[in-house]
This record gives sequence, structure tokens and C-alpha cells, in this order.
Amino acid sequence: MGIAQDILEDWHASFAALSWWQELGVLDPIGEATVDRYALPAADPHAPQRATPAAQTPRPQARPAAPAPEPEAPKVDPVAVSRQMAAACATREALHEALAAYPHCDLKKGARNTVLSDGNPQARVMIIGEAPGADEDRQGLPFVGRAGQMLDRMFAAIGLARSAPDASASVYITNVMPWKPPGNRDPSTEEIAMMLPFLERHVALIDPDVMVVMGNIPAQAVLRQRGITRLRGQWAQAWGKPVLPMLHPAYLLRNPIAKREAWADLLALQAHLRTPPQP
Ligand code: URA
Repeated sequence: MGIAQDILEDWHASFAALSWWQELGVLDPIGEATVDRYALPAADPHAPQRATPAAQTPRPQARPAAPAPEPEAPKVDPVAVSRQMAAACATREALHEALAAYPHCDLKKGARNTVLSDGNPQARVMIIGEAPGADEDRQGLPFVGRAGQMLDRMFAAIGLARSAPDASASVYITNVMPWKPPGNRDPSTEEIAMMLPFLERHVALIDPDVMVVMGNIPAQAVLRQRGITRLRGQWAQAWGKPVLPMLHPAYLLRNPIAKREAWADLLALQAHLRTPPQP
């Protein structure tokens, strides 16, 4: 009992001493040199922390500051850019260069060529198709594949050819889109809108007597209407010029029965070209 009492008293004495030393800072880890901690400036960030149990637990590392967000690039209006670029073109060559430099249409990335036109720039008739296919993309010219051969046969039937040097016997051919869409899909409304200022400028530079829009895409672009089987053969106006909507030659290849309607439209075009201009 005497020994136990001694141990217990020793334990209490040791605990009291430890608590006292702890309060005095005696248990703080120290270096070789004596430090008068009372003389340390209170706000010194390097002052050793009192070793309270809380201070001994490792503090969570401060997270690295998140990078400041990039300042947002000013929003570009692709149609406003094409309007500005198209307006600056004084020639077809300049228009071709501007299209090739136009940065906002992704179709260009998948195309080999920026396909602008073929035929006689003096022609009275300007034919507007949809977009280049694989053959056109490879050769850099519009309507040179199967649909193009069909188109040549159709216009030859009324005495017009893209290679004719005479303005009144020739045609000039272009497309709404100068780049082949992937998988021959239809160009999107946004893609058409981007190209519209270039097309309008193209028409102004060529200044034809008549435009022929072949298929839904050019009807949508030039006349803002779709439904070519309904629109075909009905004269309309755009950019101050007469426009004849016609069935696309690729459609005629798939639906030979529709050649009747195409023939009627070609005759209407021929009659229009033969009519002397009104004073
Ligand atoms: N179809 C078009 O509309 N344009 C071309 O150039 C070729 C096929």
C-alpha cells in the first residue's frame, strides 16, 4: 500500500510538473540557442507555435490558387465577317481569295479545294447549285461529276454551254457552298448564312440577266424558301434579278420521270432569254 501510495503521489506530482512546464513553454521544441520568446514580435509569422495538441495535428495544405480564368475572347459574328470580306471584293479573283481565307466555316477544313465557278463570266445565265461533291472537290470546279454531266446535257438542249465564248450562248456556274460538306450532307442553315454575302457579291460582280437556282439549298439561300418541287418553274426575284427555280440534276438522275418538268422549265428560260428587255 505504501509503495502504491508513493507511486500515486509521484504520478500526481509528475502530472502537475508536466502541466506547469507545458504552460511555461518548457516542452516546446527548442534549438541550441536560448530564445526569449516574450521578446518575439507578436505578429511574427515565423514565431514558433505553442505546441498545443491542436497545433500538433498537421494542418491541411493550402490549396494552390486556381488559375485566373482566361479573359473571354470577344464574340465574333461570322456573318458580319463574311459581309465585310465580301464587300471588299472588287473582282471574282478577289472573291475567290477571300473565300479561301474565310476562317469561320468548318467545311473548309475537310475540303481539298475552294470551288468557286466555271463557265463564261459574261454569260447571261448564272446557275447556282448546292455544294461541291467529291469530283468537284477533287477538280476544284463545280458540276463536273454525274450531276454536272446531266446539267450540261440539259442546257445544251436549249443551246447553252459553259464553254461557249459567246455570252448569249453560255452559262456561268457556281454553288451556294464553295466547300464539299462531309458525306454529302446538306449544308446547315448557319453555313448557308455565312456564305450568303459572298454569293450576293458574286452575283453583283457577274451581273447576269437571269439566275437559275437548282435544288433546295440555293432556293433556301436566294429565295428564303424550300420545297423545290413546288417552287420549280415559278419565276421569282432576288437581288433585283429574275430567278428561275429548277429541279436539281441529281434529283433528275434519281427520278427520270421528273425530266418532263425540267424540260418545261428550260423552255421557259429560253423564252425569257428571247424576250427583248422591256424599256
Ligand atoms: N451538285 C451541286 O449542287 N453542285 C455541284 O457542284 C455538284 C453537284
